[in-house]
Amino acid sequence: MKITVVGAGAVGATCADNIARKELASEVVLLDIKEGFAEGKAMDMMQTAMLLGFDTKITGSTNDYTKTAGSDVVVITSGLPRKPGMTREELIGINAGIVKGVAENILKHSPDAIFVIISNPMDTMTYLAFKALGLPKNRVIGMGGALDSSRFKYYLSQAIGCSSNEIHGTVVGGHGDTTMIPLTRLATYNGVPVSQFLDADTLKKVAADTMVGGATLTGLLGTSAWYAPGAAGAAMVEAIVRDEKRVFASSVFLEGEYGQSDICMGVPVIVGRNGWEKIIDYKLNDEEKAAFAKSADAVRAMNNVLSDMKLV
Ligand code: 2OP
Repeated sequence: MKITVVGAGAVGATCADNIARKELASEVVLLDIKEGFAEGKAMDMMQTAMLLGFDTKITGSTNDYTKTAGSDVVVITSGLPRKPGMTREELIGINAGIVKGVAENILKHSPDAIFVIISNPMDTMTYLAFKALGLPKNRVIGMGGALDSSRFKYYLSQAIGCSSNEIHGTVVGGHGDTTMIPLTRLATYNGVPVSQFLDADTLKKVAADTMVGGATLTGLLGTSAWYAPGAAGAAMVEAIVRDEKRVFASSVFLEGEYGQSDICMGVPVIVGRNGWEKIIDYKLNDEEKAAFAKSADAVRAMNNVLSDMKLV
């Protein structure tokens, strides 16, 4: 198994590190445009191999796509992260051209790969990659919902006072501060609705904190978060290479599901060796359906910028 991670910044490097520690592949290639940067990160990680006991070979490359040839899974993290006060959407002008170029270059050398897109604004970058790659829809997956759901579970577990492993919870919709939809109604503490443990105001606060989870971290860190985004990317790679059939809310190309078409947005999907294999219908209620439609309007407005930029 060979996995490429494009972008050796904090998210890409953390993702590659997690992939190596879990030995999800015999080979991980880290690619970056900054001279020597990916090579340095790869060498640093390789010097942890004997300390952490993993046997995955990590190599770095400065923009040499031939090194990525024959990858089974490719994770794209390229582009700028957000700065404090910035929305993910504001990154489109810079990141769209970068992501399109990366996707096309990778495809030349790894025609059979499954693509996991992390670059922001993630739903629009997934849509762009899907259009640019021209691959079957199941092979292009945006990582946003896995991260947002993980933040949702964190905030729920903090409020309840339990391990987040005891919580099930999903965030659907767009991966944006105002577009994501934490599905509070369906969240459970070991199978029991969280509403049995938390009052309505607390649940509202948990949802609100989840929605600005990334912005909160950007404010604290001065740049985008990386541990959870990198780990979420690696968890999706794990589900693919180990054919786990895990359910992740992921941004995928919709053709009528959840009432939307010609758009990539977060919905619950089963992830396995073929990429995303099936969309699960969570049977949203009217309020959730309305929130999903509003979220789709915002994501679609972002996608229209791609047409203005003549990228799709
Ligand atoms: C986040 O929410 C990077 O979009 C990512 O932290």
